[in-house]
Amino acid sequence: MAVSINDVKLPDIPERKSLLLDLHVKSLETYGKDKNDLEYVMSEYFRMNGVYWILTALKLIGKEDKLEKNEVLEFVLSCQRPNGGFGGNIKNDPHLLYTLSAIQILAIYESLDKIDSDKVADYIAGQQQEDGSFIGDKWGEVDTRFSLCALASLMLINRLERVNIEKAVDFVVRCMNFDGGFGCVPGSESHSGQIYCCLGALAITNRLYKVQADVLGTWLCERQLKSGGLNGRPEKLPDVCYSWWVLASLKIIGRIKWIDADKMKDYILACQDEESGGIADRPGDITDPFHTLFGLTGLSLLGHYKGEIKPVNPVFCMPEEILEKLGIKIYLLR
Ligand code: FPP
Ligand code: ZN
Repeated sequence: MAVSINDVKLPDIPERKSLLLDLHVKSLETYGKDKNDLEYVMSEYFRMNGVYWILTALKLIGKEDKLEKNEVLEFVLSCQRPNGGFGGNIKNDPHLLYTLSAIQILAIYESLDKIDSDKVADYIAGQQQEDGSFIGDKWGEVDTRFSLCALASLMLINRLERVNIEKAVDFVVRCMNFDGGFGCVPGSESHSGQIYCCLGALAITNRLYKVQADVLGTWLCERQLKSGGLNGRPEKLPDVCYSWWVLASLKIIGRIKWIDADKMKDYILACQDEESGGIADRPGDITDPFHTLFGLTGLSLLGHYKGEIKPVNPVFCMPEEILEKLGIKIYLLR
């Protein structure tokens, strides 16, 4: 029986063979500024994530001054709730996903002194369960994404000791599968996004020796399709955001050279909108800040456009220079 491979064909458009940085800056800076825009309304509940994606992308290309720093800081601080956690928007309930984005934004702006770190750490520690897992918010969903959010946030505010690290690690390790990958809870299938989260959690806690690097590296490399793009799981279509989830994972386990870097670059460039800027999931699709950030970070991880895109940290998805300033050093596998 023939096996069908889901993939796309790259369009042969010359403009899509170079990095259109000026256009990307323009699209990032104007994204969602029109408050009547459908995109603006649709992104309301996760605005904090959106600000983190835009600011990180701009910072990586040295254009962070395109955002109004004081306005952003005022927004972030107004999303903090009395229990120390941050919501996705001004009136929303706190969640670990938005708490991490808020802390990342404050870190990039070198403004972590504007929050009470002990209070934020109280909130995060309160999300840890008896089995070491973390719930995202008061509704109680458990997911390895939240393990990364909790541990990365605590590391950034220098409060890692506030949670039970052994138990946090045990839970992540229980989510490891026979293929070396990880799922969202024990027993669930391997998914590149969850793999990134689990590897990040193990890197922060200095437990990467628990990973089966060669088996996992092989599974991750099999995500690259003929087009050069990466999918998140077998049989799925390629998507630019996987140039983050997969490449960051490979970088953490020291196997990024196993990817065809030139084909990956061709795929990311083919997903640019050569008229309005921005990067989409697939060629010809509508662009957004999420895929624009992960297209740029993918290029950075592979060492493309070194003079134009700064080095990104594969665990925190933030410029390396920020982690250096905070004195955070994470050891990766070789
Ligand atoms: C794929 O999601 C991605 C994930 C499951 C990982 C998400 C990780 C976080 C939110 C942690 C913080 C992230 C950073 C960068 C610091 P999807 O829903 O798009 O998956 P699908 O492609 O299968 O639909
Ligand atoms: Zn995507």
